[in-house]
Amino acid sequence: MEQQSILEAAEQLARAELGGDTSGHDWWHVYRVARMAERLAKQEGANVFLCVLAALLHDVADEKLNPSKEAGLLKVSSWLNGQALSEADNAHVMEIISTMSYNAGKNPPMRTIEGRVVQDADRLDAIGAIAIARCFTYAGWKGDPMYDPSLAPRNGMTPKEYREGRNTAINHFYEKLLKLKDRINTPAAKQIADERHKYMEAYLSQFMQEWEGTDS
Ligand code: ADP
Ligand code: NI
Repeated sequence: MEQQSILEAAEQLARAELGGDTSGHDWWHVYRVARMAERLAKQEGANVFLCVLAALLHDVADEKLNPSKEAGLLKVSSWLNGQALSEADNAHVMEIISTMSYNAGKNPPMRTIEGRVVQDADRLDAIGAIAIARCFTYAGWKGDPMYDPSLAPRNGMTPKEYREGRNTAINHFYEKLLKLKDRINTPAAKQIADERHKYMEAYLSQFMQEWEGTDS
């Protein structure tokens, strides 16, 4: 019962903090990550309560929504300190949300099964049909075009040239979304990621054909 009321309070916090966001970190992203974390936790034998709690809190500390990453993490840790939670669980949730971000695939692997589950749940929301919508929404929010063949990464482009060029929503597929399926931790999530990945590939193929008017 206590766990249920902690989850309800975490949901309220996430709704309050993220409700109005239009950059891809809205409450419904958190909702999907929490549902997926629950499903994966059950399949992988992870602690369901901790996975759902970390999923609900994972974007409250995001540096895009706070003055700094540290300020965001402090907000979550002071909130956790006010909950009826053991020291160990408190520290575990903080560890998960402070280390799970994509960071161009450079962060070390998550230490615990709960961390691997929550990270997978977050990554799965960036693969598939909803991910396509999030990507175009984000690009629109940033002011990037959806596609521009002259901005596509060219062979021989240095990473610096690439970073300094203007990005497009379609480029983001190649930069990140299509790489995610190989960065999934758990077998349960890998199966879902593979299906969603195929869907994105089919989408890109159709997109390019329509662009040139060559679709059947
Ligand atoms: P996360 O919170 O999972 O680390 P981000 O903050 O990087 O993700 O992005 C939130 C959403 O917006 C994701 O679906 C991501 O793929 C998408 N996104 C991030 N950067 C870009 C970009 N430059 N162009 C288009 N979509 C983007
Ligand atoms: Ni997220």
